Amino acid sequence: MGEGYVEVGVVGTTETAEALADFLFSEGALGLVTEDPRDGRAGILIRASFPPASPIKQVVVRLADYQRELEALGLAWGDGHIEVRTIPSEDWGRSWKQHFRPLPVGRRLVIAPPWEAGPFPEDRLVVRIDPGMSFGTGHHATTRMCLEALEAFLDQWRGDAGPRVLDVGTGTGILAIAAGVLGAERAVAVDTDPEACAGVMKNVALSNTRDRVQVLHGAVEALRPGSRFDLVVANLDTKTLYPVLNTLKVLVAPQGRLVISGILIEEEGTVNASAKAAGLRVLTRQSDGDWLCLTLTPEAGGNRSAPLPGS
Ligand SMILES: C[S@@+](CC[C@H](N)C(=O)[O-])C[C@H]1O[C@@H](n2cnc3c(N)ncnc32)[C@H](O)[C@@H]1O
Repeated sequence: MGEGYVEVGVVGTTETAEALADFLFSEGALGLVTEDPRDGRAGILIRASFPPASPIKQVVVRLADYQRELEALGLAWGDGHIEVRTIPSEDWGRSWKQHFRPLPVGRRLVIAPPWEAGPFPEDRLVVRIDPGMSFGTGHHATTRMCLEALEAFLDQWRGDAGPRVLDVGTGTGILAIAAGVLGAERAVAVDTDPEACAGVMKNVALSNTRDRVQVLHGAVEALRPGSRFDLVVANLDTKTLYPVLNTLKVLVAPQGRLVISGILIEEEGTVNASAKAAGLRVLTRQSDGDWLCLTLTPEAGGNRSAPLPGS
């Protein structure tokens, strides 16, 4: 048995549950379920799973502060009680199996765990994801919006061969694998977390995309200079995004697109200013709850195309 996971449970109300869930994701939760409280209390119980090494004490302090902010805004916030417990990894896995159901996304995809036998709708392509310890099942708004933007890009693609796609901060590999399933000629999945990369390779095999999806462990800056992609997708929090924005821009082919998410609506002004400073123009904007997803393109006169890594 592995080290287990740490679960943070908090009771919210219909007014606060979504905000609390987003808050827990922004603190690094890998997965999250909502249900009725077990002990008959009123409200909605939110249970968020964190990796074992997470700074849980600080998360709990910030969560309590956040609850007080919600209260100050006049929102009901349940009884405020926060529970923390350690879950053995086997139980955590079982919990995922209960709550990770096949999820249709966009018009053409369904995201399904490997233990779901189907059948799946005939008009949808299946992306198999075993989440392991990584982020990216499609159940979070930012992943979903990136998948929709990816699908829209592939729908409009008119090249002879499929487009070349880069997924920065791939997590489970969901975006790169979806790109491979939807017709990308090649998708490169990059992550700084070695465990995430090992999981991506398994997910790539589960979705039969080994011939199209390449997994690279490391930071985006480590890609071969001169690499260019028709589409770059980066679902990163803004703290991670800002320092790499220039690098991402250089990786986008002249007529290409950069899709970014992991952005809170309240950060929109700062993100727009940073994008403009990096020579990127916003083409489309999508939001879901507190989260934003932007599609950008390099300003004219920007990048010149060059070969892919390893090609
Ligand atoms: C929010 S998850 C996104 C996962 C998935 N792409 C999705 O959309 O659901 C962000 C991922 O970025 C990775 N990451 C963080 N900083 C990075 C960097 N500088 N370069 C590459 N990956 C990074 C993290 O390890 C994590 O797996």
